[in-house]
Amino acid sequence: MKKIFFTIALSLVVTTLVMAQKQINLPLIPLPQKLEIGQGGFEINESTVLYSESEDAINDLNFLQAYITDHYGITLKSTIGAKQKKSVSVKRNATMKPDAYTLRIDSMSVRIEGGSGAGVFYGIQTLIQLLPAGKTTKLHVASVNIEDEPRFSWRGMHLDVSRHFFTVKEVKKYLDYLAMYKLNTFHWHLTDDQGWRIEIKKYPKLTSISAYRKGTLIGHYSETPERYDTIQYGGFYTQDEIRDVVAYASARHITVVPEIEMPGHALAALAAYPMLACTSGPFEVGRSWGVFKDVFCPLDVTFNFLEDVLTEVTDLFPGKYIHIGGDECPKDRWKESPFCQELMKRNGLKDEHELQSYFVQRIGKFLQTKNKKMIGWDEILEGGIAEDATIMSWRGYSGGVQAAKLKHDVVMTPTAYCYFDYYQSTSPSEPLAIGGYLPLSMVYKFEPVADVLSADEAKYILGTQGNLWTEYIGDFKKVEYMTMPRMAALAEVAWTAKERKDYSSFASRLSSHTKLLSFLNINYSKAFYDISTRVTPNGDRGINVELLCAYPNGQIRYTTNMTEPNSSSPIYDKKFSYDQSMMLKAALFEGPQMKGNVFSQRYLVNYATGKEIVLQDQPDPEYNKGGGFTLVNGILGNLPWNGNDWLGFQKTGLNATIDLGMARGISQVTLDVLSDSVSWIYPPSSMEVLVSENNIDFTSVGKLDSISIRKAGRQATIKFSKKEVRFVKVIATTAGKIQAGAPGAGNDSWIMVDEISVN
Ligand code: ACM
Repeated sequence: MKKIFFTIALSLVVTTLVMAQKQINLPLIPLPQKLEIGQGGFEINESTVLYSESEDAINDLNFLQAYITDHYGITLKSTIGAKQKKSVSVKRNATMKPDAYTLRIDSMSVRIEGGSGAGVFYGIQTLIQLLPAGKTTKLHVASVNIEDEPRFSWRGMHLDVSRHFFTVKEVKKYLDYLAMYKLNTFHWHLTDDQGWRIEIKKYPKLTSISAYRKGTLIGHYSETPERYDTIQYGGFYTQDEIRDVVAYASARHITVVPEIEMPGHALAALAAYPMLACTSGPFEVGRSWGVFKDVFCPLDVTFNFLEDVLTEVTDLFPGKYIHIGGDECPKDRWKESPFCQELMKRNGLKDEHELQSYFVQRIGKFLQTKNKKMIGWDEILEGGIAEDATIMSWRGYSGGVQAAKLKHDVVMTPTAYCYFDYYQSTSPSEPLAIGGYLPLSMVYKFEPVADVLSADEAKYILGTQGNLWTEYIGDFKKVEYMTMPRMAALAEVAWTAKERKDYSSFASRLSSHTKLLSFLNINYSKAFYDISTRVTPNGDRGINVELLCAYPNGQIRYTTNMTEPNSSSPIYDKKFSYDQSMMLKAALFEGPQMKGNVFSQRYLVNYATGKEIVLQDQPDPEYNKGGGFTLVNGILGNLPWNGNDWLGFQKTGLNATIDLGMARGISQVTLDVLSDSVSWIYPPSSMEVLVSENNIDFTSVGKLDSISIRKAGRQATIKFSKKEVRFVKVIATTAGKIQAGAPGAGNDSWIMVDEISVN
């Protein structure tokens, strides 16, 4: 598992409703590079024949035939031979780039040509997106002329099957979704602390012991006290099942990249084979999330084990890449181990990072003997990168940039854009997620090539991938919910030329495309219709409130009387001003239809709301979306925490002075703070309120020397006898270094604050 990583910005991307963007009405995702829409179209019906003009395209044609049978109940004849009138034909054309295709539809025929089987298949996927999204036997498709090819060669999705297990049938559905969006790489995260999921013939205990845990954490990892169920949980894929999945993927032109985690995230394996650890155990398959200190020890027996495992793995997966993990490996056990210290001395390794590098390089050399390329998370850069290793950059852009500059291939999966286990909506009805906030518009905004890279360096960026960690995703319907439609947005990032990308066009196409998602019974999220709010000061009179929606069509309708908005509620057309607390509910409508979730926001107005505020020390730039005004904007930051409407301080504490505009009789100051130790966030170690009439001479009116925050609570309040003052200063100190044993131990803790209320 990963913490919500702190080196990246999580900003809400919103645009106003009124966006004059050219709309492309066909529900095509990813958007083709060249698309002309003609008049009329073609009807595929029971008498249409499917022709493969070259023998080598017959498998892809048969895929189309099976799709039409499965979804429309008509079985078309499929044959090899020259196309006839009123037909659908496919052909490989070696003069085209392998992944390129053309799709030409007019009233006489549908013709697909592709540079390879993959190219033909992508043409078929585009055709499928043009088919009716409902059961009929007359399949009208619009007349188009499309010339298309991908921007990047690595267009991937990852799936963690360790934290929660998904059946072969479910994995195949996932592959269907990748295929729909022309994604070509499936990163299968097969091993982790909480379960080993691949049969290895030589080590049967990996499946009899490591594949099962005795229970699972209930609720969120940050909750205290921790609670567990006692239900045995697990599963694994036999080698026959793995071969079946690989073949299914291959028929969809998807390469499967298996991940065998090392040296960290290895607890499940150690539970079965404790001799691979630096201490004697016993170990238990992980029941909780997070990072565990017991990891593979760099013993000869461990390398022998891993080489045996990788021998079987490389035999099962024909693709060129093997992912060896490499992330989040605590070095505690290696530091304490006389064996490791001696090994380091013998090999001239200066620290445990170099020992990790030694570990990874040894595995890399072994994979070379199997003609495989090693890929690993960006931690494998630490202590020296292994020859020929490809880097999967997840902790922001920096690992990817560093690797590209070192002339290593890179796949970009930074948390801020590619972690689909993050929340995609701020709605309180959103199902439990790990944290963070990654709305669809943010995924879409992602640019995999960092602008600091030269054109030569940029060539090392192979592409991008969405990652789905499944600590909080216990069933496949939730897998669908978390990935759809963010997978679609990432597919457009990976496929479509940067200059052709346009969120407004994408969102409009997606809205039409959701008919297909419904037809396929896919549980997609409607969060892209979400409404958000922007608040600005209104002089001495509280705040101005605007409503925003990244979706470009429709109208926002609202209520202020606690009732749910409906299609006859007033249309929002200009900003509101509030000088007293107010509850606003709103939703997006297209005609009579409500499109997304109901937005609900309480705006709290007190003496501080909308007033001038000065911060002595600025928040960390990554958590400073709205500046000091965030603390007096009348809005409490969301819980679960999502980076929005919170200010974060790590190096300094908070020192804020509010000018109430005139002397007011006040007797209470409340600071809203967050407590989330998993994300390194702690309540302030102290809080003090000082008041002044002239902004020069301040008098302390109260101080708290410890602040305990209840799980759901978050307010620290100081009450005092009534004072007539104009200036209020609030000082809150951070809790300092994180203690041993807690996530992020040894790092500076954060305080996150979202509101100061003065009454
Ligand atoms: C990761 O998210 N730990 C790669």
